[in-house]
Amino acid sequence: MIGEWLDIGWLNEIPMRGSRTVPVDGGEEIAVFRTGDDKVFALVNRCPHKGGPLSQGIIHGHSVACPLHNWSIALATGEAQGEDKGCTPTIPVKIDGGRVLICRASTLKAAA
Ligand code: FES
Repeated sequence: MIGEWLDIGWLNEIPMRGSRTVPVDGGEEIAVFRTGDDKVFALVNRCPHKGGPLSQGIIHGHSVACPLHNWSIALATGEAQGEDKGCTPTIPVKIDGGRVLICRASTLKAAA
């Protein structure tokens, strides 16, 4: 339904193995990641460890390494991997006609 998904721009504007951030009105910034195999994931842009900006991390496969202390966060689940414990909220994301859409309701819930 129109209105439930927030159009945040063209997929091609996100570099491969890169990300872009999306400010959310009254909420937390969202980081949208594009992996080397052209999958897209969206998470709140906040590491579960000490809040590092995950959008500035390096993407390995389907994980991102936090730029602050190098925790590895799974993009699909938001969970810290290995010995580390913690979870960042994930946001449903889909591609439609080359546009990236994120679930509006989840961005607000993530902010709550
Ligand atoms: S804040 Fe991300 S690893 Fe410490």
